[in-house]
Formats: sequence, structure tokens, C-alpha cells
Amino acid sequence: MSATVAEAARLLAAGELVAIPTETVYGLAADAANPAAVAKIFTLKGRPADHPVIVHVGSAKALDAWAIDIPEAARKLAAAFWPGPLTMILAKAKGVHASVTGGQATVGLRCPSHPVAQALLAEFAKVGSGAFAAPSANRFGHVSPTTVGHVRDEFGPDLPVLDGGPCEVGIESTIVDLSRGTAVLLRPGAITREQIAAIVGEVRERDSEAPRASGTLASHYAPHTPLELVDEHALEPRVRAAVARGERVAVLARGPARASAATSWHSAPESAAAYAHDLYANLRLLDASGAGLILVEAPPRDAAWDAVNDRLARAASEPAFPRGRSS
Ligand code: TXA
Ligand code: MG
Repeated sequence: MSATVAEAARLLAAGELVAIPTETVYGLAADAANPAAVAKIFTLKGRPADHPVIVHVGSAKALDAWAIDIPEAARKLAAAFWPGPLTMILAKAKGVHASVTGGQATVGLRCPSHPVAQALLAEFAKVGSGAFAAPSANRFGHVSPTTVGHVRDEFGPDLPVLDGGPCEVGIESTIVDLSRGTAVLLRPGAITREQIAAIVGEVRERDSEAPRASGTLASHYAPHTPLELVDEHALEPRVRAAVARGERVAVLARGPARASAATSWHSAPESAAAYAHDLYANLRLLDASGAGLILVEAPPRDAAWDAVNDRLARAASEPAFPRGRSS
């Protein structure tokens, strides 16, 4: 079911779910001020209740409605990167419900730049709370959707979807925790650690103190088919070994297709931004290729590739839940 901006805003105000486009990935949105509506997100996704969801707001003006004790660093980051693919974790304001925060004392806030998301936030401010909670619109642990087709593959034809075309960034927002003094990077994304450090000074890496974030689980963003990351020099020997065992092997590697014993070969873009843009669509294609094993040639290890390497490492990790269509 396709929805217009006005219909989507009305559905949110009525406590219903709508899949919505953002510049990163599609989100599964509910009124952030309506706990019963937010609870529906968890049911539909199969997401554990103690995982917090990000609250999406129309501008930095909404910061004080949702957060308290807001450090200067957060205001500077909002001024620099909002609207855009940056989520900030801040001490939650009094009325923010536990269904949104996963029972934690903090709230994740993000102001998306996608024009359709912005239009929806503006319309929803007229007919409702003006803020929606939205995790990625996929079943828990699976690959995030970057097109309306992906959302349909996850949830079928009945879920109302606001169509905003393919997502520009392609991977989820950078998450930075500003609730604990020093800024802590919880999830790398298109806005890099260096860009954040240039504004706030020191940015620490996540440690065991870090709050729960499903994007920080070792296995996440995973296709159903087992996926291995392989260095360039080891790729063809690994393909041959698997094929010799009778395995159907799908390969994802940068640059033009090369001669290989693989059953199918998928070319990925050379630049980090373009690779990220295509990543989840590529993982879905590889998953649908009928292969029993996906081999991904490891991208470069430099900072520009941090977010892509983070997602690939999680996609490759052994899942905490069984893989397969039935899960
Ligand atoms: O790009 C994005 O951020 C997309 C689009 C839809 O905006 N959303 C997204 O949501 O990726 P989700 O739920 O799939 O991932 C959000 C991450 C989760 O890992 C969640 O645990 C974490 O943000 N998070 C949200 N609130 C938090 C909080 N208060 N403390 C720590 N982590 C939080
Ligand atoms: Mg997600």
C-alpha cells in the first residue's frame, strides 16, 4: 500500500505504523509520543523490547523537547550535521516513554535530511506530535531496506509505505553518545569520526560501558546465506575450494567482474560512498542468487571505509539466531 505524505501523517497520528524513506535507509515509523504505537514496531520487527529506537525530529529546535542536560557539543553537532545522517544519544527528557528508550535514561535523536521525511515531519507537526520513532524497516537482525521493494520483501504488501525512491546514503546513521561527558562513537556511518572530532574534539571508540544498541551486536545486518569476508589474494583459492566441495558461490568484489570459478559474480563500486549506497541492495541480490555461500572481497581498511567495514563484519559474523528463510 502506497501512502501520500498527508496520509502517512494521519496514520502516525492515529497510532499506526508507516514505512518511511530517509537518506540512510527506510524506517518503520510510529508516533514517538504514543507508547502503544511504538510497541507495534517491536511486534512487527520481532525486536527485543529493551532495544531503544531513534526519535526523528524536524529540526534542532526539538532537542529541548526530547532531551535534557544537552551539552554544547550536541548543539554544535546539530548545527553542523542536521538535517543529516547523525544520531545523538542524550539524557532523555522527563516525558520520554520507556518504549522509546528501551528503559534507559537516554534517548537517540536524529533529524533526517530526506525531503520526503522532512515533509512528513512538517505535516505530522500539524496533526500530531511532530516526532516519529523509527528503526530500520526490516525484521530484527536482517539487512536494512534502501528501496520500497526491500520494505515489501520484509513486510509484504499491506504495510503502508511512503515512497521516497532509493536511499542516497544506503547505510544507517552515525550514532554518537553525548550523554557521558566525552563523545563516544557507537556506530560508524557516512558522517565520519574525523568529521565529528573536528567539531567536538576527542571522540572515543565504543567500550563495554556502552549502552545497548542493536547495531552494535556482533551479528546484525545479516543476509540469510552464510557470508565470509576474504582478502583479495585469498579470494580465488577460497572460491575454488568451495566449488570443489559442490558449493554454489556468489562473489561481491569491487571493480569489473573477473574470471572466476564462482557461480555468480557481482561488481561493487570502487568508492566507499558508492559502495555503501549499493551495499544492502547487493547483499539482498547475493542472498537471492541461490548460492550456498557468499564471499565478499574485503574492502580497503582506511578510515573512509570504516562504516562499510563495520557493516560487512557484522553481516559476516555468526548469527545469534539461526539463519534461513524460516527464522
Ligand atoms: O539511519 C538510521 O539511523 C535509521 C533510519 C531509519 O533513521 N534507523 C536505524 O534505526 O538504523 P535502528 O533501530 O535500526 O538502529 C538504531 C540504533 C540501534 O542500534 C539502537 O539500539 C540505537 O540506535 N539507539 C537508539 N536509542 C539509543 C539510546 N538511547 N542509547 C543507545 N543506543 C540507542
Ligand atoms: Mg536496524
